[in-house]
Amino acid sequence: MPGPPVRCGPMNDKETKIALVTGAGSGIGRAVTVELLRTGWSVALAGRRAQTLEETAALADARAAKGASLCVRADVSRPDDVAGLFTAVRERFGRLDLLFNNAGTFGPGGVPFEELPYDAWRHVVGTNLDGAFLCAQAAYRQMKEQDPQGGRIINNGSISAHTPRPHSAAYTATKHALTGLTKSLSLDGRPYRIACGQIDIGNAATDMTERMQTGALQANGEVVPEPVMDVADVARTVRHMAELPLEANVQFATVLATTMPFIGRG
Ligand SMILES: NC(=O)c1ccc[n+]([C@@H]2O[C@H](COP(=O)([O-])OP(=O)(O)OC[C@H]3O[C@@H](n4cnc5c(N)ncnc54)[C@H](OP(=O)(O)O)[C@@H]3O)[C@@H](O)[C@H]2O)c1
Repeated sequence: MPGPPVRCGPMNDKETKIALVTGAGSGIGRAVTVELLRTGWSVALAGRRAQTLEETAALADARAAKGASLCVRADVSRPDDVAGLFTAVRERFGRLDLLFNNAGTFGPGGVPFEELPYDAWRHVVGTNLDGAFLCAQAAYRQMKEQDPQGGRIINNGSISAHTPRPHSAAYTATKHALTGLTKSLSLDGRPYRIACGQIDIGNAATDMTERMQTGALQANGEVVPEPVMDVADVARTVRHMAELPLEANVQFATVLATTMPFIGRG
């Protein structure tokens, strides 16, 4: 069950746009949340650890947040948690303009496919795919019902939605699947003014990519440090996607560290 909502900020006024960011307690989710709060959005922050969510809200306050925040502890892979999360958002803000479907996990790194335990596979699928489905469906229902109707869902894919790293079958499979979810929601959402796009990121500096800077396994078996980019640059891209009118949509945005081994097959 989700924990009781923790109120982090002042109430929003009626004109404010409302966003929900999953995985808001660290990395990309934190950077996007701070960017949105700083620029006047009100944001519901979701994740499994209340403390890191509150730290994100405090960081936004320290940077003169204009919007209101609501921290809700929720595990996106659990249907009851997601239901509680969306009830809390509805009760506090009354509507939802943006879901940033960001929570995710890479799973165990470096495990050869033939040794990948089923539980590890299920954990990655449960978080990255089931979680994205549950949140997208709840957001879609809210956006379809609310007045004015509509809203936007941005799925956090990856360049692993295009091409894999070695030993990443679970992560790569879920990120490819997210592309299908994004396309389906774009199509199904048309009658209800629900836009859906996807950001595919490569090597933003976060906890998840820490090991890239010391050395990441390449397809030829070498372990090589890879360049990373600032999460703030990802956050600005997500805000741009979020602030388009609903008549316009960035369907897919690929944002990566310019010199990382992706383009050029290495
Ligand atoms: N960094 C990159 O270069 C990069 C590249 C491509 C894609 N991405 C994607 O970006 C997203 C964020 O990754 P990141 O790099 O910012 O890594 P991160 O710092 O590890 O962030 C992952 C976030 O997801 C939350 N989370 C994990 N499992 C959850 C669950 N079951 N329910 C709710 N929240 C959960 C975590 O919070 P709790 O542990 O508190 O729940 C954490 O805040 C992921 O989807 C990742 O695949 C990142």
